[in-house]
Amino acid sequence: MNKVSILPHGGKLVNNLITAKDLVGIKTFDVSRDIRTEVENIAQGVFSPLDGFLNEDDLQQVLREGRLTDGTAWTIPIVFDVNDHTARNLKDLGDVVLTCEGESFGIIHVKDIYRFDKVHFSTSVYGTTDRNHPGVNKVLTMKDILVSGKTEIFAVQDRLGMRQFRMSPLETRNEIIRRKWNTVVGFQTRNVPHIAHEMVQKAALNIYDGLFINPLIGKKKRGDFTDEMIVRSYDLLIRNYYPQEKVLFATLHTEMRYAGPREAIHHAIMRKNFGCTHFIVGRDHAGVGEYYPPYAAHDVFKNYPDLGIEPVFFPSFYYCRKCLAYANAKTCPHGHEFREELSGTMIRKMVNTGEIPDKHLMRPEVSQLIISSDDPFVKE
Ligand code: ADX
Repeated sequence: MNKVSILPHGGKLVNNLITAKDLVGIKTFDVSRDIRTEVENIAQGVFSPLDGFLNEDDLQQVLREGRLTDGTAWTIPIVFDVNDHTARNLKDLGDVVLTCEGESFGIIHVKDIYRFDKVHFSTSVYGTTDRNHPGVNKVLTMKDILVSGKTEIFAVQDRLGMRQFRMSPLETRNEIIRRKWNTVVGFQTRNVPHIAHEMVQKAALNIYDGLFINPLIGKKKRGDFTDEMIVRSYDLLIRNYYPQEKVLFATLHTEMRYAGPREAIHHAIMRKNFGCTHFIVGRDHAGVGEYYPPYAAHDVFKNYPDLGIEPVFFPSFYYCRKCLAYANAKTCPHGHEFREELSGTMIRKMVNTGEIPDKHLMRPEVSQLIISSDDPFVKE
């Protein structure tokens, strides 16, 4: 059989799916749906080579160097926080069955239980300790103790609702083989598509065999579009405007961290595990507010020549009224006065007044979907 041309990060795709053994007598611990989803991501190899939550040495090395202790590139800590009481209970237990909403779904082989420094964590990952940064706010409200250890699962959550488009790295890799793509460019997004997104994707599709559109579904900050809006708008966009055989669409269920450059590396690693050979990084990738310079997420790739997936950098795309086309500073000589972009203000106006933006800024199918929704934005 053909092989996907790119190896998973660390060389081997983690596959920690096991059959439920005799669980009698093993202590259980109930976790949130978000933690369950991360345990599933680990077990299905989305975070290869991690086979569990980070131990203390790896966490320190990730924070200091953006690498695991064995030198493998890794920029975002994948950790499991618990309170003092739980930590005391988990200590010395070894294996613990994980449950979520009453269902046993996996096991953690508890290794380390350790405290961590939230300020050091925030400055290393986010470059700031400002509580207004959504990632920092999350870290500062985490419980005080981290638990490390290999995790395994018995089953993944049913593919219902928003999870119907979820695919595992094994599935996307098989699909890439089936489609005979040698080169695949990955696209991360947390937004409904506007035409600048589409132009960036299609510019890349001129060069590579396939495009993997992989929106991030999961916890986001207030004011971002809901998961449902993102999935439904991409469904419309792809059906109406893309060559079907060139695009693979699947959702990635994990948390958005808004960590700019560090998250760009993390996003690229996950897409490498899904089988992408290339990864699009545009303007202010994974940024929020003014915390990161617009091209910090390009510059950071210089520190990772060994990443094993090629970044594809794009400058900011805008519609130029003189070119009568989408352009960017590399291709267009005209001044700022000719540039048009879909701003957050325009989107809010569209939602409030029902007045849809010009067709050259957003596809009418997508605009219509947004204005027909009672609740297109995340509330908290
Ligand atoms: S992100 O947080 O997931 O990066 P978003 O969904 O808006 O946010 O962006 C997805 C990708 O498209 C990122 O690589 C981003 O840099 C890129 N991008 C967004 N808007 C533009 C634009 N106008 N020009 C070029 N790239 C862009």
